[in-house]
Amino acid sequence: MEELVALCKRRGFIFQSNEIYGGLQGLYDYGPLGVELKNNLKQAWWRSMVFDRDDVEGLDASILTKPSVLKFSGHEDTFTDPLVDCKECKSRWRADQLKSPNCPSCGSSDLTDPRPFNLMFKTSVGPVEDSDSFAYLRPETAQHIFTNFKNVVDSTSKSLPFGIAQIGKAFRNEITPRNFIFRVREFEQMELEFFVTPGSDEDWHKEWVEARLAWWAEQGVPKDNLELYHVPDEELAHYSKATVDIMYKFPHGLEELEGIANRTDFDLGSHSKNQDELDIDSSVMENNESNARLAIQDQETKKWTVPYVIEPSAGVDRGVLAVLNEAYKVEDLGEGKSRTVLALKPHLSPIKAAVIPLKKNHEGLVGIASDIKKNLQKLRLGRILLENTGNIGKSYRRHDEIGTPLCITIDFETLEDDSVTIRDRDTMEQNRIKILDLPKYLETVIIK
Ligand code: GAP
Repeated sequence: MEELVALCKRRGFIFQSNEIYGGLQGLYDYGPLGVELKNNLKQAWWRSMVFDRDDVEGLDASILTKPSVLKFSGHEDTFTDPLVDCKECKSRWRADQLKSPNCPSCGSSDLTDPRPFNLMFKTSVGPVEDSDSFAYLRPETAQHIFTNFKNVVDSTSKSLPFGIAQIGKAFRNEITPRNFIFRVREFEQMELEFFVTPGSDEDWHKEWVEARLAWWAEQGVPKDNLELYHVPDEELAHYSKATVDIMYKFPHGLEELEGIANRTDFDLGSHSKNQDELDIDSSVMENNESNARLAIQDQETKKWTVPYVIEPSAGVDRGVLAVLNEAYKVEDLGEGKSRTVLALKPHLSPIKAAVIPLKKNHEGLVGIASDIKKNLQKLRLGRILLENTGNIGKSYRRHDEIGTPLCITIDFETLEDDSVTIRDRDTMEQNRIKILDLPKYLETVIIK
C-alpha cells in the first residue's frame, strides 16, 4: 500500500485533501492523472450499463436530500455503526472492527458500551438554520433513483425488466476512515437499480453477480482475484433479502469492492402513497407523506405491482484502488536494474499515447509531433500528450509508471520517411510505423 500511495502522490494521481492546512481525515483529491483514471473507470461502467443495453436509463440526481426520503428509506433509524469511546485517551472506534477488547490507541480496557452512531451528514438549506431547513448529504445514490422511478417510467415508457443507472458522490461520516481511498467520508458510487417482476428476482440476482464479475475482469481485476461473500441473514441491510458482496484482495486485506443486493420491493413500497392499494411483499415503512405511487400497472388486470429491485452497487474509489493495485508492478530488468510499470488496461490509462520529439524544441520534429498529437486527439480516445522534454529514456520511464500504453517518438528519420518509432509499454518493443497508420494502430490498442 505504501508504494502505491507514494506513486499516487509523486505522479499526480491522488493527494490528501486540504493538505496545506494539515488535511482532513477521510478525504482525498484526485490529481491530473487520477481524474482521468477515475473518469475512464466511470465511463467504462456507464458504457456497459447504459450504452450497451436498451433496458437501462441514466440519471443524475441531487446530493442534498430531504429528510423524509431518508426517513422512509429506513436510513434515519438504521444507518448506524456501533461506536465505542476509550475513556482513557478519548479516541473513538467502531466496535465491530476492534480486534481485541482494548483500545488500539492506548491499550486501555476502559471502553464505553457500543452505541449506534448515525453515519449521515447533515446540513441546512437556505439562509435560516432551523429544524425545517435541515437536509442530508445522500449516503447512497440509490434513494433518488427510487424517488424518480415514476418520472423515469412516465418519460421513457419503460416496462419491466428495466434499470436506472447513476454515478455520483455519497457521503458517510465513517467513524474510522482508513486504508487510503478504501474507506473515506466522501466517495463516489456507481449504482444500478434494476427493476424486475417479483418472482424473477432471484434469477436476475444471479445474472447480475456474473455480469459484474465479468465487468471487473474487463477492467483488469480478474475473477481469480475476487471472491463472492454471501452475506448471512444477520448481517443483511434492513432492505435486503439477499446480498452477494464481490470481495477483492486489497493491499490491506480481503474486503468489499461491490455489493449486489436484492432490495425486494422495500424502497419503492416505502416511498409510495396509498400502500394498501398496492401489491407489496415486504414490510415497508408506513408512509402518509409521499404523493407518488411507485408501481407498475398491469394493463389487463389493472393491478398495481411494486417491482423488486436488484442493485449492483460499486464504489468508484475502491475500483480505482483495485485497478491500480492490479496494474502496479516492479519488473526486474537484470544487472541490478528494475522498472516500475502500471499495466493498466489501455481504456483506463490516463494518457493514451505520448508523442515525444527526439530533440527538445527542434522546429521540424516538434512541428510533426504537434500535428500527430492533434490528429490522434481527434479520435476522441482520451488524452494524447505532446512531451517536448528531449529526454527519451526519462519519458519512457515516466510513461511506464503512469500506465501510458504507447510512446511515439519523432526522430530525424521521420523527416526523411514519414515514419515514427512506437514503443509498447508492456513489452518495451519498439517498431517503425508510418505516420498515416498511427490512428488505426492506436484505435486497435485502446479499443481492444
Ligand atoms: N446502495 C447500496 C449501498 O450503498 P454499500 O455496500 O453500503 O451499499 C456500496 O455501498 C459500495 O460503495 C461498496 O461496495 C463500496 O465499494 C462503496 N463504499 C461504501 N462505503 C464506502 C466508503 N466509506 N468509502 C469508500 N467506498 C465506500
